[in-house]
Amino acid sequence: MKSHTPTTLLTGATGFLGHFILRDLVQRGRRVVAILRAPLAGSTQRLSAMLAGLGMDLEEHRRTGLVLLREGALPDELPEPDWGATDDVVSCAASLQLLANGNGEPYKTNIEGMDQLLAWARQHNVGTFHAVSTAYVCGGLKNNVREVFHPEPPTFQTDYERTKWFAERKLHEWADANSRSYTVLRPSFLIGHSETGYTTQFGGFYQFARLVAMMAEHYRNGSNGDGTHIPLRIPGRQNDPIQNLVPVDFASRIVAEVVTTPGLHNRIYHLTDPAPPTWDDFKSWVEEYFNIYGGYFVDSDELSNGRSAAESLLWEKYDLLMPRIHHHVHFDQAHTREVMQRVGLEFPALSKQRFFKLLEYAASQRWGQKNGRDHNGTHRKSKARRPAGVH
Ligand SMILES: NC(=O)c1ccc[n+]([C@@H]2O[C@H](COP(=O)([O-])OP(=O)(O)OC[C@H]3O[C@@H](n4cnc5c(N)ncnc54)[C@H](OP(=O)(O)O)[C@@H]3O)[C@@H](O)[C@H]2O)c1
Repeated sequence: MKSHTPTTLLTGATGFLGHFILRDLVQRGRRVVAILRAPLAGSTQRLSAMLAGLGMDLEEHRRTGLVLLREGALPDELPEPDWGATDDVVSCAASLQLLANGNGEPYKTNIEGMDQLLAWARQHNVGTFHAVSTAYVCGGLKNNVREVFHPEPPTFQTDYERTKWFAERKLHEWADANSRSYTVLRPSFLIGHSETGYTTQFGGFYQFARLVAMMAEHYRNGSNGDGTHIPLRIPGRQNDPIQNLVPVDFASRIVAEVVTTPGLHNRIYHLTDPAPPTWDDFKSWVEEYFNIYGGYFVDSDELSNGRSAAESLLWEKYDLLMPRIHHHVHFDQAHTREVMQRVGLEFPALSKQRFFKLLEYAASQRWGQKNGRDHNGTHRKSKARRPAGVH
């Protein structure tokens, strides 16, 4: 009789984090059944191009049976398991739409979707469930945010955060009611690969960098010497940390270690930067990269009056994410540190070199405009470009 290969049902494999997780799970010998949205042929082609970017041949793994693709969608179009037993679910799909706009998202995918996926797991006797959430289910909490479920809903800044908290609550209740195990992995803001800068998503950090690029280009003046002087008030304090950013390969590596090690299940993990750089570091890297100068820190209230054109360009477009710039939260990481020690993994701290790599890669992809992506990297239906040496 053929022995059973541990099998994971994975949602969100065509996403930024999901394709890394798929690759990392398969590398650890898991059989992965990936649920892709219709039309299956188009999603398969997209996934194949994305995995090629990571050096993985999807077709070969489909031939060996380690990767199975099935059509499905959240909340309620999940396939019948024609592949045999499923050992665990890794729920990575989500709507990253920050605010509700009448299309039902992010509630439909993130809350109803979680409900249906849990029902599917119960129906098919899957006892182990892992979910990718966000560190920002902590809402406005600040001090030593622990790797536990936050039973009281905090104040949220976006509908997206609220839906991720509700999804965690559903998971918590499901595990309690069914004596099942659940694990939650909470990244902060995902950024590109720690060595190559490779990314398929261009929101948040990249949106900010793109605005600076536009501003630098707009004010560039050939006759003004070495750099372009742009007087610009920066709301915040120079020694405060920047918003928490985590390279996608680090996040995926921890997810894969946790999923494939039963002793690490049944916990919550913060996939976050333990010591983010300061705003002062960040400012100097931005100025050097874009060859600009003239930024200075001010109290955030001061920026409400008389904004210059440059300040409006930069800060008004970034309004929605602004609260996170001033939210200096300390995420406890005891569980994540344990995994890192176990596998001898260090956090790939953001340095000037890494920062430059991230921007070089994003600029080479025209900040997500290449290959028909929008700047958030969402709804991209074309092939990802194979970057050199992504691992
Ligand atoms: N990106 C971040 O900075 C960040 C930070 C913290 C936590 N997270 C969490 O990390 C996970 C992955 O995020 P990501 O950045 O990789 O997102 P992403 O690149 O936008 O990918 C989202 C994935 O979910 C799939 N999906 C969306 N709606 C679906 C639906 N209704 N039914 C089935 N599949 C659906 C998408 O499929 P299509 O390809 O067909 O659209 C795609 O595969 C999410 O749970 C997110 O909440 C992300």
